[in-house]
This record gives sequence, structure tokens and C-alpha cells, in this order.
Amino acid sequence: MSSGSKIAVIGCGYVGLVTGICFAELGNQVTCIDIDKDKVAALSKGTLPIYEAGLQEILKRNLINRQLSFTSDYSKTVKESEVIFVAVGTPSSPIKGADLSQVEEAIEDVLLLDFDDEKIVAMKSTVPVGTGERFTNLFKRKRRNLSYVSNPEFLREGSAVDDFLNPHRIVIGSVNPGASQRVANLHQPFQAPIIFTSTSSAEMIKYASNAFLATKISFINEIANLCDHVDADVKVVAEGMSLDPRIGPHFLGAGIGYGGFCFPKDILALKQLAGNSGYHFQLLSAVIEVNEMQKTLVIRKLKKYLGDLEDKVIAVLGLSFKPGTDDVRQSVAIDLIHLLQFEGADVKAFDPLAVSNAKRILKDVEFSKDAYDAATKADALVIATEDPAHQELDWTKIVGLMQTPLIIDGRNLLSGEQMPENVTLEQIGRPPRISDQVSWLQKKQVLEKYNSKINERANDQIDADFSR
Ligand code: UGA
Repeated sequence: MSSGSKIAVIGCGYVGLVTGICFAELGNQVTCIDIDKDKVAALSKGTLPIYEAGLQEILKRNLINRQLSFTSDYSKTVKESEVIFVAVGTPSSPIKGADLSQVEEAIEDVLLLDFDDEKIVAMKSTVPVGTGERFTNLFKRKRRNLSYVSNPEFLREGSAVDDFLNPHRIVIGSVNPGASQRVANLHQPFQAPIIFTSTSSAEMIKYASNAFLATKISFINEIANLCDHVDADVKVVAEGMSLDPRIGPHFLGAGIGYGGFCFPKDILALKQLAGNSGYHFQLLSAVIEVNEMQKTLVIRKLKKYLGDLEDKVIAVLGLSFKPGTDDVRQSVAIDLIHLLQFEGADVKAFDPLAVSNAKRILKDVEFSKDAYDAATKADALVIATEDPAHQELDWTKIVGLMQTPLIIDGRNLLSGEQMPENVTLEQIGRPPRISDQVSWLQKKQVLEKYNSKINERANDQIDADFSR
């Protein structure tokens, strides 16, 4: 089975769509299944429910050449397929770590069908370690001609098509070497190293990879926080570290924390799995805690200059959990806006892709048509996503539009040199550039605080005199 295999993909979410559409591009006959009939109808006409760079063109091409189709007809599609990829959601569950109800349902539906030929269930969804072994035993108990293969995905949103077509590794876990080889054959065009292993090790590779990347982020964020205290520059520190090949340059971008549908839930699930197995994974607790604290950093930095944030107008650039996607699930930018609103601030926000998704979860936010519109009359502007497009903005114009020239660059994107003279620029783990105008504002805050303390003391004294 090198190409031209009959493949079913259960779940037309982000992973299922990228998997199905890209396997069609490689010459396989792919049918993607989803219970949402509207979604299936839209996809059949070439309309994607998500934004993912490059996916739209491949979808259209493969619909036209009939390599790809979408359906809600489970039984016909599964019966006609040799390999059934499961790519449904596994959201967080407080007790089990991951909610497997959608995965269980997909497997139960396959088991309800009658077929004689050997089929493979290949798991793309991120499932807790041990799940594959459980399903392998279930298939055996039911005496079904079904083999289970764990085949985790390592796709990043925003570059998922490129990641799928140019993988760094393929991980295949199964007790059945024949089934493993058949799934490996589907990946032959890639010439990437293939790891053949047990289902549990394959599942652990996925969790350990995400947890390690998140650990790198929390580590560099702690270094950044320390840099803030000792006047060092985390960007230079990360660059210096990254030249050591044992460390490498990736995921050393300090900022206001990681978000997204994968890292937060997978790291929690791994911690939960450890706890359920009787092991306390100390490092992961710290990684999560550091990430939560990092989100509050912007508030502290704003208060340093503006004092109370009540009725202050704060512009936020970026709403998605990272640039190049419209996905706002577990986005740090969204958490930040909630924190700002809790402090009483008025929020204006701009994002090139994610506004319609953000509108579903945010209330009382003014959505701006561009960064300039957001900056107009703002008391401060916060950069929340590491979008390189922010670097190309006309910062002199932006600053000219603002009430107070205060910029909190939560992703260390800007350089002091590109900023006009009068700007105060606060970054993460980098020495701030404080302009006269804002330092005056800061002094005013200190003075006001000092005066109110004096008044408080005077009032206390008067109360004490009266009560004597
Ligand atoms: C992540 C992994 O990178 C993929 O390999 C994996 O397949 C995927 O999860 C998944 O499990 O499905 P993704 O969630 O798309 O991919 O996003 P990343 O590019 O990894 O970024 C995650 C978060 O980390 C973002 O909020 C980003 O802003 C943050 N980040 C990333 C930093 O704060 N600093 C960095 O240096 C890099």
C-alpha cells in the first residue's frame, strides 16, 4: 500500500482536515466523516471551517480531481476503507485528564459495523498513555478483524500543511507489525525517520514532546523575569544559549505565556496521568504555575505606569493564541483581556484573522479595523501575539494616535530603535525604555499614592484623637 489507499478520517476538526486533505494530496482516496451535516455540506463545496495557510487550495484541488470527499455516512465509508484515522477532540477532563467520550464513540461506531476484510484504526487524537492498549485488547476480545495503531500528530497550527508534508518524524505504535508497516507505507513519500514502538510509548512521545516544549517556554519566561530584576536582556541571553547545539534556538521566545488547544490541555493531562499512576510530576506543576503567573505580567507592567486601570483605554494587538491562525481557544490574549476588564479597563482589540471567533467569547470589547484604529486615544497598547506583521507597523503614527505613549510588548517583537523618542516601551525580560512623558506619569502616580497614604494616616490620627 504505497499510494492510492482507501482512507477514512473520522472528525473534520483541525487535525482531521489537515490529515485527510493532505493524504488525498498524496494520491490516496480519502473520505472525511463528520456528524455536523452543515460542515460536511460546506466542505464538499470547498469551504473550510477553519483558517489554515495553504489548506484551501489543496482542498479545492482534491475535490476537483475526486481524491477527496466529505460525508456523514459513517457505515458506508468505514466499510469501504482500509485505514480509519480517528481525529476527534480530546478536551480536558478534571478527573481523567482527557475526555475520551468522542474517541470512545468513534470506536464504538466502527465496532457496530459488519466487515470481513482487515482494517486498521489509526489514532491521531491525543489520548492518555494506556488508551491504545485498552482498545487493542477490546478489539481482541470482540474477535474483530481490526488492528489498532497509535500515530500521533505533531502539527502546529498556522504551519500544519507544511508540518504534515515535511515531517521531522513519524511515530507508529502497535502490537501488530503488519498494521504498523501498512501505516508506515502511507507515510513513505515523506522519507522522514519512522519510530516503530508500542502504543504506550507512541502515546507518551506525543505528551512528552508537548510537555518538553512547554517546559522550554516556562523556563525562558522565568529567566526573563529574573532578567527584569537584574537588568539583563533575555533576547540576548536566549540567543547566546541557542548557539549551543544541545540547547538549540527553538521555543526560547520569552513572553506572556503559552496557550492554544494543545499545550494547556496536554500538559494538564500528563500531570493527571502521572497523579493517577501514583507519581507526582513536580516539574509540570511548576511549568503550569509559571505560565499562569506570566499572564498577569502585563497587568503589573501597566499598573507600574498607569496606576489604577479603572476606565483606562487599553489597545490589544492579537487575539488568537498565536499568529497565522483564527483559533482563540485558550488564547493568552483572551485571558489578558478578561484580566484587563476585571481591573475596570476599556479594551479595544485588533486581530487580522481571529475577530469573529473572539466575538463569541468576549463581551464589551471594541473590535478595531486595524492597529491604528485600536491605538487611537489609548492609554496603553499591548502586543499579545508574536505576529511579525506588528513589526512592520508605522509606530510613529501609532504613538501619535495614542493618549499616552506606553507600549507593553508581550512578545518581545519590537526594537527600541524603531520606536519614536517619546515612547515608553516595556518588554518581557528586557530593560525598559522609559520616555520623559511616561516617567512624569509614573511620578504622578507615586505622588498620588504618597498623598493618599498621608491622608489615610491623618484620618487615622483624627480617629485615634476622637476615640481617646
Ligand atoms: C503545538 C506543538 O508545537 C505541535 O508540535 C503539536 O502537534 C500541537 O501543539 C498539538 O499537540 O496538536 P500549536 O499548539 O499549534 O502546536 O502551537 P505552538 O507553535 O507550539 O505554540 C504554542 C504556544 O506557545 C503559543 O501560544 C505560542 O505563543 C507559545 N510560544 C511558542 C511561546 O510563548 N514561546 C515560544 O518560543 C514558542
